[in-house]
Amino acid sequence: MPKSLSVAIVKPVDGKCNLRCQYCYMWRYSNCARADEGCSKMNFATLKLLIDFFCSGQQDIEFIWHGGEPLLAGISFYRQVVEYQQKWLDRGKNIANFVQTNATLVNRNWARFFAENKFVAGVSLDGPAEYHNLVRCYKNSQKSFTATMRGISILKEASVFNGVSCCVSDINYKHPMEILEFFIKNDIKSLKFLRVKGQDSHGNPYPHSISQQAYLEFLLSVLNRWIEIDDVDIEIRDLKSIIDLMLGGEFRECVYMGRCDIFATVYSDGSIYSCDALPKTREFYFGRVNQPVKDIRKSANLLKLIRMINIHKKFCGACEYFKICKSGCLQDYLPDLLRGGNSSCGDLKRYYTTVRSKLLEYDLL
Ligand SMILES: C[S@@+](CC[C@H](N)C(=O)[O-])C[C@H]1O[C@@H](n2cnc3c(N)ncnc32)[C@H](O)[C@@H]1O
Ligand code: SF4
Ligand code: SF4
Repeated sequence: MPKSLSVAIVKPVDGKCNLRCQYCYMWRYSNCARADEGCSKMNFATLKLLIDFFCSGQQDIEFIWHGGEPLLAGISFYRQVVEYQQKWLDRGKNIANFVQTNATLVNRNWARFFAENKFVAGVSLDGPAEYHNLVRCYKNSQKSFTATMRGISILKEASVFNGVSCCVSDINYKHPMEILEFFIKNDIKSLKFLRVKGQDSHGNPYPHSISQQAYLEFLLSVLNRWIEIDDVDIEIRDLKSIIDLMLGGEFRECVYMGRCDIFATVYSDGSIYSCDALPKTREFYFGRVNQPVKDIRKSANLLKLIRMINIHKKFCGACEYFKICKSGCLQDYLPDLLRGGNSSCGDLKRYYTTVRSKLLEYDLL
């Protein structure tokens, strides 16, 4: 059973980024002003503390290098990561490094470094150019599709490509077939879909957000087409997790773990907050990487978060799908919990019922 705050989502350059994706929550943080003022780069002393913090109390450790754009930290930063991790590898720990990138800065040096040091890279790509380029542009409004595709092909060549994260927004949600066909045609077969959601500190939804219902409809259309195509190499992570759970097997998406408390976001100054999807506010601040792990795990804010998660799970406990859903994404029900109420799961039940009947119909369960 993983302990709280055991997976590190690290932002070595905070929200600093070469792109300005219209829906992105990162460059809207108050400490990451639009012109990248207020963003810093993590220094090596903080990096060492961070690695020791996460490696000391557990055997299997995952670092997710995130941002902003994590490649802006430069290869020399990651060489230092590898050097600091070596001490723990020598002590028999298992360490995995995942990079989440827009891939526009990927070149052969990066790919070689990743391959030599067993890093894998997931890339954000919102489908064909006509959708991707409407929302994922550089600061000067230049389109990023071509650079992202070039990055993917370099990562693939080096065998360090870990699939695509595709944001589903009001730009592309009506085109599930076209998006799926695009990925398959480009031999991109490991897919994770993300609903564009969330709101800024004034309560305004991020641009291009869509409802849970619209997103689930999108996933159901993808499921239908995926069953028709019948290619075992196509991995749609959300759907695969549900099927694996229905069959009693393994799964890998955070939303199906029911343990939002295990994800810790670490900023360049070493401050530790909850999962990146929750707001970066005082109530989700747990401490700093220079403090003892056990103190951070006892922080009042973390214990309060765990209490809230458990209250919600109790509320959901009688549902026939609880074993799969585990109450869903904390980001979705948090606003209701903070107001002191319970949150309804919206369309999730209908979604699980439809997925199950579809899988039964095709003898997949
Ligand atoms: C913040 S980015 C950081 C890493 C890197 N720059 C990238 O684009 O992959 C991480 C992921 O969050 C997604 N994302 C950004 N804003 C979002 C939002 N409002 N709702 C859902 N996902 C979002 C991005 O598309 C990307 O896949
Ligand atoms: S590339 Fe990533 S961090 Fe940068 S603006 Fe786009 S989603 Fe945000
Ligand atoms: S809040 Fe949502 S995104 Fe974050 S760990 Fe929980 S399920 Fe995953």
